[in-house]
Amino acid sequence: MRIGDIIYMDYQASTPLDPRVLEAMMPYMTEIFANPHASQHLLGHQANQACESAQAVIAEAIGALPNEIIFTAGATEANNQAIASILLGYKGKRKKVLISSIEHKCVKEAAAFYGNRLGYYIEEIPVLSSGAIDPVAYDRMLTEEVLLVSIMAVNNEIGTLQQVATLAEQAHNVGAIFHCDAAQAPDAADIDVMEWGVDLLSLSAHKMYGPKGIGALFIDASLHQDLPALIHGGGQQGGLRSGTLPVPLCVGFGKAISLWSAEKKQRHEHLRQMSALFLQALDKADIPYHVNGTRTSCHHGNLNIEFIDIDADRLLSQIQPHVCASTGSACNSGFLAPSYVLQAIGLSLPRAASSVRFSLGQGTDESQIVDAVELIAQAVSLPSS
Ligand SMILES: Cc1ncc(COP(=O)(O)O)c(C=O)c1O
Repeated sequence: MRIGDIIYMDYQASTPLDPRVLEAMMPYMTEIFANPHASQHLLGHQANQACESAQAVIAEAIGALPNEIIFTAGATEANNQAIASILLGYKGKRKKVLISSIEHKCVKEAAAFYGNRLGYYIEEIPVLSSGAIDPVAYDRMLTEEVLLVSIMAVNNEIGTLQQVATLAEQAHNVGAIFHCDAAQAPDAADIDVMEWGVDLLSLSAHKMYGPKGIGALFIDASLHQDLPALIHGGGQQGGLRSGTLPVPLCVGFGKAISLWSAEKKQRHEHLRQMSALFLQALDKADIPYHVNGTRTSCHHGNLNIEFIDIDADRLLSQIQPHVCASTGSACNSGFLAPSYVLQAIGLSLPRAASSVRFSLGQGTDESQIVDAVELIAQAVSLPSS
């Protein structure tokens, strides 16, 4: 995607709103603006219907039932709610929580915060150099003391796709509950809570060409009676998360996920082709590089590239304002700590500091890749000061 002469290659930080999604949302910002929980008049009823059908569409897209979908403000909130409600709801039953060492900050921090206060041990499952869960370590760490396992479907920095169904089955074999952060999964996988066998799953609309400020948490119906609400009030959403639903955002999320369902195969193929072109262009320009993670079981649009002996922050600043990309995850940007994800897959600090994530999307085309790689080649050839 080009905005003026800016090439956008940061789709994993956020995707642009699909115009078809905006069109679906508009009536709910202008005419059908009523409170969806105001059940005594027609406009309230229409707003409520819109939220319910969005909930049903989201459920269908991921193989769930409508009442298993709770709207949240995004994947950060969904992950916090998943972890906090399980740790509170089953307090005293088991004492360990396992998370992968490459989880998003919101999983790491939520597990540490609630785990420490509620008396759980939090353990991190190591990953291999590909970013896949280390199967030997996972097997060893899974014991009957484990209450909850939280492993993301697709990593936001290196794009590694985990074997979620297998990991969830192994967790269930020791009686643990399995949560999956699937925020980055839409551009890399089919998401099916039944096939994957997960108990909880988090989604974010702005990672799938929907609006920002809305996400969802799938909670298997069998867990509902055990989980406390975290946000108290009017008892909306089955009492699990009170508060007036943001109708346009719910409608936008529903439209975005229905488009994703219909188009996911072509979307995945587009990313596979674009990433191949990107790597070919780097080869053609003779730029020394190494791709971090794996190119086999992965989000193809996620290219985390180590530019040998180049400072990534300097490279990024030299291609500004023309190419939007990032080092580390965007959610961490603002402070430039070395990426814990790259360290977890075995990169030294200097190698991690030479790595940039280019993340391609549905608006990426060949001409943008050619132009971006030309800018990168110019920046890489400049002497370091
Ligand atoms: C894997 C992962 N989980 C969670 C989040 C947070 O999502 P949100 O922006 O919807 O809060 C992100 C955002 O980058 C992410 O990549």
